Amino acid sequence: MRITATIAAVVALFPLASLAETLHTKVVILGGGVSGISAARNLTAGGVNDFMIIEARDELGGRAQNIDFADTKVELGCNWVQGLGTNPVNVLREKYGLKTAPNNGDDVVFYDENGLVNFTEAYNTFGEAYDRMSELALKRLQNGQVDISSRVGLDLAGWYPMTPLDEAIEYYNFDWEYGENPEVSSLLYGVLNDEYSYGEKIFGEGSDGDLFVLDERGFKHIFLEAANEVLKKNDPRVLLNTKVTKIAHDDQGVTIHTGTDTIIKAEYAIVTFSVGVLQHRDVQFSPRLPDWKMEGIYAFNMATYTKIFLNFPHQFWDDTQYTMYVDPDKRGYFAAWQNLNAPGFLPKKTSNNIFFVTVTQDYAYQVESMSDEEVKQEAMKVLRTMYGDDIPEATDILVPRWHSNPLFRGSYSNWPIGELDQHHTNLKAPVGRLYFAGEALSKEAYGFLQGAWFTGEETATHIMQCINSKCPKIEYYPMIYNTKTFKERKDFA
Ligand SMILES: Cc1cc2nc3c(=O)[nH]c(=O)nc-3n(C[C@H](O)[C@H](O)[C@H](O)COP(=O)(O)OP(=O)(O)OC[C@H]3O[C@@H](n4cnc5c(N)ncnc54)[C@H](O)[C@@H]3O)c2cc1C
Ligand SMILES: *[C@@H]1O[C@H](CO)[C@@H](O)[C@H](O)[C@H]1NC(C)=O
Ligand SMILES: *[C@@H]1O[C@H](CO)[C@@H](O)[C@H](O)[C@H]1NC(C)=O
Repeated sequence: MRITATIAAVVALFPLASLAETLHTKVVILGGGVSGISAARNLTAGGVNDFMIIEARDELGGRAQNIDFADTKVELGCNWVQGLGTNPVNVLREKYGLKTAPNNGDDVVFYDENGLVNFTEAYNTFGEAYDRMSELALKRLQNGQVDISSRVGLDLAGWYPMTPLDEAIEYYNFDWEYGENPEVSSLLYGVLNDEYSYGEKIFGEGSDGDLFVLDERGFKHIFLEAANEVLKKNDPRVLLNTKVTKIAHDDQGVTIHTGTDTIIKAEYAIVTFSVGVLQHRDVQFSPRLPDWKMEGIYAFNMATYTKIFLNFPHQFWDDTQYTMYVDPDKRGYFAAWQNLNAPGFLPKKTSNNIFFVTVTQDYAYQVESMSDEEVKQEAMKVLRTMYGDDIPEATDILVPRWHSNPLFRGSYSNWPIGELDQHHTNLKAPVGRLYFAGEALSKEAYGFLQGAWFTGEETATHIMQCINSKCPKIEYYPMIYNTKTFKERKDFA
């Protein structure tokens, strides 16, 4: 890396002008989340040490963030290792001794305004329908049939929610995982995500399962350690607190403009910003990205999954890991509650009894526009409906706002009905010397940490091919056509 103070002479004449500097590197990694870290590791392993990481926040890790709350720490973002065995996230967990507790989704109770609800029958009915829906999706994929929404898939599998309890069960199993409802979610890619993002098919025997991270060092600890394996302490190749504002690119290279006076010139860039950030045009591309690329970016969804943390003077809820609230009218309203006092979770302290609730989609956007106090009042209303008026008032509240955060614009991606395979190929494809990575770009593991990890190393590998011999030919679709024009079709019944 060469550091050149381009206008040192000018600064000498105008001592008040800030010192603009231009940094030169071979590969500039834009964003220091899991995909950026994974790209840096892969470059290093391939002998390319001339890279830089540009990150707007004051530390690496991206959506792996924890924060002080009620005399402990809580995870604002990712919280589960989803898929064990050879999952790179699980490998890091083992290597760095991350503290976790076994997750059990069936350890759940349901409450409505009359208290505990017997959910067994409806829960099993949904489970069976969900399995039929998955089989149906895999069959459609094999047949080469088009995608349908998961709502249609559930219906074809014999499930339609008829009661508020049905809706709560469906929300727990669907929205609370994908971050969006079955109406907008793809059936085929959702099921592929379910089957191929984790579990035995990918990460080997016994790898099915999730671990819930409860470590005061944070989930981020393992990713920071993974970064430290290839970075020196205070490595000058890492620029923190540096927000990228503009990415100029041509067939010679890329120029990165930042919120400071620093400019970075590189031969290649790896853009790892979330698909939400790309959609919001928080970063300007010059020239603008081609239509085929924009079509891929805009056709994808950035979901919002908001965990609202509440602390209480004592525990009044069940010992189960999960508690679901069944609202009579509003599906998914302050519905999915989690108990950090569950056996094997946080050590019992008098100073914390944390019960937190996740909202998604419209309720997540709504919550982001409310004050913390207003959110607390809504949450307390729901809890009094479930447990009666004698429960204590929450003493602390924490509301992450992922959707309005210009560095994220949501929590993780979800494959919507309408995004074709070709759109997704375009979302991932490079544009000249701009290469892309990040969780959304993983066809199988979008939404997950391992998706971010895999795309980071894959893109780094592609760039090294460019550097060492010849760039790989990566397919994309300049235009996406229907397979048959209307006139040609003879397959109407
Ligand atoms: C609430 C929540 C819950 C989740 N739960 C799980 C889970 O349990 N298990 C799981 O596997 N995954 C989970 N995920 C998803 C997981 O966190 C992501 O898939 C993963 O962290 C994404 O990594 P990434 O590198 O693709 O993107 P990011 O982490 O978003 O990295 C991109 C980086 O770019 C930086 N950046 C953005 N704009 C700029 C700019 N203009 N200039 C400079 N830097 C910029 C950002 O600060 C960020 O560090 C969850 C995410 C959230 C938010
Ligand atoms: C709940 O309902 C199931 C059948 O629907 C029944 O077998 C079970 O005994 C019920 N549980 C309780 C606690 O009433
Ligand atoms: C780099 O990434 C490729 C996938 O693109 C992977 O096969 C290889 O193992 C990675 N290298 C290292 C050292 O992790």
